[in-house]
Amino acid sequence: MKSNEIGRRGLLKGGAAAMLGAAAGPFGSLLRSWPIVPQQQTATVEAAGIARIKIDFDRRIGTIDRNIYGNFTEHLGRCIYGGIYEEGSPLSDADGFRKDVLQAAKAMHVSVLRWPGGNFSSGYNWKDGIGPKDQRPRRWDTAWQEEESNRFGTDEFIEYCRKLGAEPYICVNMGTGTMQEAADWVEYCNATTDTYWANLRKKNGHAEPYNVKYWALGNEVYGSWQAGHKDAVEYAADAVEFGKMMRWVDPTIKLVACGGPGVDWNFPVLEKLVYLVDYISLHHYGGSLETAKEFNDACEFEKQVRTLDAVITAVMSRTDKKERVAIAVDEWNIWFRSWFHRGDNHMLEEIYNLRDALWIASGLNMFHRNCRTVKLADVAQLVNVIAPIMTNDTGLVLQTTYYPLQLYTDHCGDVALDALVRSDAFPGLPDVPYLDVSATTDDGNQKLTLAVVNRHPTTDISVEIEIEGFKPQSSGNLYEINGPSLDAANTFANPSQVTVRRKSYSGAGAAFRQTFAAHSVSVMTLQA
Ligand code: AHR
Repeated sequence: MKSNEIGRRGLLKGGAAAMLGAAAGPFGSLLRSWPIVPQQQTATVEAAGIARIKIDFDRRIGTIDRNIYGNFTEHLGRCIYGGIYEEGSPLSDADGFRKDVLQAAKAMHVSVLRWPGGNFSSGYNWKDGIGPKDQRPRRWDTAWQEEESNRFGTDEFIEYCRKLGAEPYICVNMGTGTMQEAADWVEYCNATTDTYWANLRKKNGHAEPYNVKYWALGNEVYGSWQAGHKDAVEYAADAVEFGKMMRWVDPTIKLVACGGPGVDWNFPVLEKLVYLVDYISLHHYGGSLETAKEFNDACEFEKQVRTLDAVITAVMSRTDKKERVAIAVDEWNIWFRSWFHRGDNHMLEEIYNLRDALWIASGLNMFHRNCRTVKLADVAQLVNVIAPIMTNDTGLVLQTTYYPLQLYTDHCGDVALDALVRSDAFPGLPDVPYLDVSATTDDGNQKLTLAVVNRHPTTDISVEIEIEGFKPQSSGNLYEINGPSLDAANTFANPSQVTVRRKSYSGAGAAFRQTFAAHSVSVMTLQA
């Protein structure tokens, strides 16, 4: 979060309350049925310029790390309690995990899950969250001004990750916490030694180590809203000691330095931590009610990644370290409508529209294009709190932003290709094209997936597509995310305004034309 944004955020009350008022339709049909329905009727107009996508299979950018399809869960509002975990709910399993949420999350193939925050982590004592649940202390969470029951802690988090099939990623407390507490947490999770914290894990019923690989050295330490806020030099000096202690417990862990809003933070931090860390983090929250502004922000996001990449290049050039430090975009999303309000647990319950889904797809395309440097990313957050999944007592709704996350993980390949894209741009914004594209293939070049976002609010765009080095079958599937307008949203009252429709295309070859509908995300799979 940027410090100057705090004042801009308003409360979300009517929207969330309205959304939570009615029951969801049958969950299964929301989640997985891609009905074949007639194409939407729009006034088809060609873009003023010729829109082109050119793919050459010799122009490979690199391998996409599946860890870019990660997510984030924080003790905040109804993300943990009432989101992924709801003891006593008829929708939960015997361990208290909401089965409907787990099923929806699984369908997004969440690769890595960050926890426990966020801002929450800077005041969290992990030792409060282990052992018999009824004996765990209730605490006041200063970050989000809420009561914390501690009924969900490390063991529950790991269990959730196992159920989900995601790698756990823990952010240690570098606000009020100590380096000893951080090292003890690593011992509790990963050690097999005959020592206190490893033995306590065993006593708590977990004989085998959790082998938590990813650890973040603090959260947004640069911001005044953070407990234990520091400047870059102070942070880097502390982080070296925290990281050193944690590695002395488990030398195999991957460490993520806390990246900041710009070069003034990132350069000194990385200079100090370059030999220690594997990643440096970046957070980005965007969003606007104005279409051009929202997509301009998507382009700014890419510039932010490239600027951080340049810092990494500069710092690395002065070292003999072999393994390049990568970027972990460990919080990213649209967030500008809903803030938090003490006493209201419906915090940050942003209602997303189709425009936001297109922004998410643009973000995923950007990660593909920058796959050499972005190796991990977590959408913030998984459920209820600025999330693709919203729950109430009786079910859930899949927000618009759910669909790109699901479609991309289902269909995109592991190798990014360097697509040449020619497209008109938003008026007055030459760097913000209507079309945003990523092209991916699998290792064997058996499949080409084109992910095409047409961000034009009213116009279908007919695109000339040329492919070199790959002969596609002439027909195949095209999955389209769309709805009546960019403002369309899914709510409990109206859960299917924006959905995925499976269409077929024909006539593909070395050169062909394909029309992409106004305000849509299309994932087109071409088989060799
Ligand atoms: O995701 C919500 C909050 O946004 C996180 O707690 C914090 O890290 C960021 O400012």
